[in-house]
Amino acid sequence: MNADDTSARADELIILRAPTVADGADLWRIAKGTGVLDTNPPYAYLLWARDFASSSVIADVEAEPAGFISGYRKPSDPETLFVWQVAVDSAFRGRGLAKKMLFELVQRTGASRLETTITADNEASIALFTALAREHGTEIERRSLFTEDLFPAEEESGEAHAAEDLYIVEPLNR
Ligand SMILES: CC(C)(COP(=O)(O)OP(=O)(O)OC[C@H]1O[C@@H](n2cnc3c(N)ncnc32)[C@H](O)[C@@H]1OP(=O)(O)O)[C@@H](O)C(=O)NCCC(=O)NCCS
Repeated sequence: MNADDTSARADELIILRAPTVADGADLWRIAKGTGVLDTNPPYAYLLWARDFASSSVIADVEAEPAGFISGYRKPSDPETLFVWQVAVDSAFRGRGLAKKMLFELVQRTGASRLETTITADNEASIALFTALAREHGTEIERRSLFTEDLFPAEEESGEAHAAEDLYIVEPLNR
């Protein structure tokens, strides 16, 4: 694929919308296709599309499912949007799609605070949430959250899981 194929096209129709159960299998396919995300069972994506649609988003590019964000409002603090998975199909990366989805979700939910977790090696994800803070003129903070020892051992699960740091972006939607 050459550079022109991945660059944003002004005439491209991008639709950002809350997912429905009819999108569940596509959410699973996109997550699996990243090759780096923990892929949940297909059932989890169906459940997500049914019960957490208002805090999630799917992007259709020219009617093709191209990416999604799954999130929820923290039960203990509904003003906080927790972003669980962000995934963009490799064919649609590097043209601002993740940013568009994230910004739409922050605006749609009206959340005043965002939380997510990121592994230290995920530069793209760190850049995405840093861009959110920068372009909303607000702060981003990192704290330790799920350290490596909290995950099942490699001998048990088949692969080691890197520590997931907590990133907080606030205030939002002032
Ligand atoms: C992370 C991911 C969602 C980014 O999607 P994308 O649509 O290509 O991202 P965008 O084009 O909106 O770029 C958002 C920001 O990240 C930066 N970025 C994107 N890819 C990058 C990369 N590989 N390395 C460093 N920075 C990167 C962009 O420059 C932009 O920052 P800027 O506004 O400061 O320039 C995508 O790479 C992906 O699906 N990765 C695999 C799954 C994953 O790791 N998800 C995140 C953890 S839940």
